[in-house]
Amino acid sequence: MAAAREHFGSRLGFILAAAGSAVGIGNLVAFPVAATKSGGGAFLLVYALFVFFICLPVMMAELALGRKSDKDPVGAYRQVSGGSRFWSLPGWLALVTPFMIAVFYLVVTVWILGYLVEALRGNLDQLATGAYFGQFINSPMVFVYLIVVMLGINGILTLGVKDGIERAAKTLMPMLFVMLLALVIFVLTRENAMLGVKYYLIPDFSKINPEVISKAMAQAFFSLSLGMGIMITYGSYMKKQDSIPSSSRAVAITDTLVAFTAGLLILPSIFHFNPQINPAELSDSSAGMIFLFLPKIFYALQSSIGYFGASAFAAVFFFLVLVAALTSLVSIIEVPVATLRDERNMDRKKAIYTIAAVQLVLAICCAVSFGLVQWFTEFATIAGENKSFFDLVEMIFYDTILPLNGLLVCLFVIYKWKRANFDRELQEGDSGFAGTFSQKYVNFSLGTFIPLILLLIFINTLALKFFGHSFI
Ligand code: PFF
Repeated sequence: MAAAREHFGSRLGFILAAAGSAVGIGNLVAFPVAATKSGGGAFLLVYALFVFFICLPVMMAELALGRKSDKDPVGAYRQVSGGSRFWSLPGWLALVTPFMIAVFYLVVTVWILGYLVEALRGNLDQLATGAYFGQFINSPMVFVYLIVVMLGINGILTLGVKDGIERAAKTLMPMLFVMLLALVIFVLTRENAMLGVKYYLIPDFSKINPEVISKAMAQAFFSLSLGMGIMITYGSYMKKQDSIPSSSRAVAITDTLVAFTAGLLILPSIFHFNPQINPAELSDSSAGMIFLFLPKIFYALQSSIGYFGASAFAAVFFFLVLVAALTSLVSIIEVPVATLRDERNMDRKKAIYTIAAVQLVLAICCAVSFGLVQWFTEFATIAGENKSFFDLVEMIFYDTILPLNGLLVCLFVIYKWKRANFDRELQEGDSGFAGTFSQKYVNFSLGTFIPLILLLIFINTLALKFFGHSFI
């Protein structure tokens, strides 16, 4: 029999753990680059509107569903729907999605660890060559680092919700904030830094088109860790006396502030290195930026602070990204762990080992799909393009399925669980929420335009990724 359900010890503990999940590689690199290329301050505005008017209600819905049922996503949908077969589907999707995202995110995290180690060993000059990346991802060291990363994450998970997840977040998140601020302050004092800030912040509304709007929405949804079963699971660890609306707001604000601040690090660094650069040339892919472009920029810092200083800067940056990735991974791997505990009555350790074993195999399949094993490298042909196993996992679970999961949560909460029950759960721990504008807005939007927007994004991504066609 599984032990009694654990809960986060404090409201702050929950907020930091959920922010740890939300703040990830997406915040630190993808967001600043997307903002700079898509209208600077104008993108920031659109993004902020999406976070607070579209994503925040979805976060509340996920947390409320989890807390009401006290269960993992599969159990939550089953219990609240009274065992409906149809509604078990989103529960399973909210289990498979995080499981598979974790697999490919693990591989990227392993690369980050590898780059951190090389920066610490004084090999920044090699990292800056660009060619290093191709060699590194196909080297045996990847498998060693994979074991190290998995031991770290599963070690935290083994300690439980309060002593593992919450304590790690309480230690790592403040560390992340301090490191980020230190790097920003340093970089803002460099030559040409303000040029980068200008590109990042000055609004250019002419760049805002349907494609940019859809990109901002997808980025906001992903950044808040929605549609991944994470917030349902974390909701089940929330105490009844804690307010869901105000805790969600705190998580969304923290996540957005970190993403915004990361822009004040990345853009000035790029413009210090090359004041003539045209931001349109920056890579859309986070991996391209982190492993190919940014090491060159860090290396160039040696002209002002010497090779040692540049290596230290790079090491702090990679450490920062590593911390962000690890706290996200902890949250996402907790989802299948919670499912095995709740649905199969497995004890925590056994659940963790079982998940880790399967994920190790799948992560290896992803890691060898960059040339080491041809079958995984040329795994499928989609819309006329070769896709590796890694690409396919990313495309299906990361790019496409999240809005579908979000859409199903909205419909479920409003039309199956019913508005009044959802409202009642939001009022637990927040009696002042009843009758507020916020309550009416959340209730109305989740049943109307939010699922519609998520449906449009889902259909468009499906058409674009799998058939090479965009409606937008
Ligand atoms: N919010 C996370 C990010 O921006 O990177 C999303 C995420 C990805 C959470 C992967 C958890 C995870 F394992």
